[in-house]
Amino acid sequence: MKEFKNQIESCKSLKELEDLRVSLFGKKGFFAGEFAKMKKLPPEEKKSFAQKLNEDKEFFLNTLNEKKLHLEAEAIAYEMKKDGVDVTLFNQASEAGALHPVMDTMDKIIEYFVAMNFSIEEGPLVEDDFHNFEALNLPKYHPARDMQDTFYFEDGMLLRTHTSPVQIRTMLKDKPPIRMICPGAVFRRDYDLTHTPMFHQVEGLVVDKSGVVSFANLKYILEDFLKYMFGDVEVRFRPSFFPFTEPSAEVDISCIFCEGRGCRVCSHTGWLEVLGSGYVDENVFKAVGYEGVSGYAFGLGVERFAMLLHKIPDLRSLFEGDLRLLEQFR
Ligand code: PHE
Repeated sequence: MKEFKNQIESCKSLKELEDLRVSLFGKKGFFAGEFAKMKKLPPEEKKSFAQKLNEDKEFFLNTLNEKKLHLEAEAIAYEMKKDGVDVTLFNQASEAGALHPVMDTMDKIIEYFVAMNFSIEEGPLVEDDFHNFEALNLPKYHPARDMQDTFYFEDGMLLRTHTSPVQIRTMLKDKPPIRMICPGAVFRRDYDLTHTPMFHQVEGLVVDKSGVVSFANLKYILEDFLKYMFGDVEVRFRPSFFPFTEPSAEVDISCIFCEGRGCRVCSHTGWLEVLGSGYVDENVFKAVGYEGVSGYAFGLGVERFAMLLHKIPDLRSLFEGDLRLLEQFR
């Protein structure tokens, strides 16, 4: 009997224990055999024999059950260790992400104009000739319509080359006064250090009854905006030409790399060009059927702003998705 206790204690698995249980308590097991012996005993011994046997049986059943509980608990612990998730493990997927510098810059630009009460408009990326060129006073022979610059589809549709068609769409859909910006992607057939075939612009348009909106308003808001973006820079307006504005001005800020002393980035001029702008050309208002109004418009390249803000030398690195660059913006 003693060795049964040892046998139970030394079982290493539930399977071993079950085999032992059958060999003790099964139909052909040890106790069945012992009880069979009882028949041959003289009647006066039967009672005490049976009593002893039942006590032993109960003792070993209890021992066996205890051992079973113990082995089960061990088995569960083992399974959990094998298949369980170690929540203390470092998990790359849970690393915090960040906005791409272009989108981050876009947000900052939008934030300024929303605070200045501009609405946000959007337009399609695939445009027609009327909205992208014709209505913007860009007649057929204009060099900007050259195949070099524009992606055309076979049916004559095109990928918008600037966000200015959204000026047209907004004026056709709404009545003046208008005070809008349009952020979005634009496309040109260009690829080098400072050009990518897709980039982002933010367009601005303000229109009201003749005489309400002045060139001084344009100058004020763009100066204020550029100081909001770049800090304490000097801003200058340089006469320029756009088909859809007259007069037109390109806007420069004092070089943020050399503070105007002259360096490679500003081609030793001390100035960086950051915006196109002007008073909306009469022909644009004619194209959308507006009369007795005046207004100003401006447009900027978001990637250029992002490059200047973060001192990124090659525009193309903004589109390569290299984590070594992007991780710096977390
Ligand atoms: N659409 C012009 C461009 O893409 C920018 C611009 C917008 C200039 C509005 C003047 C007014 O270059």
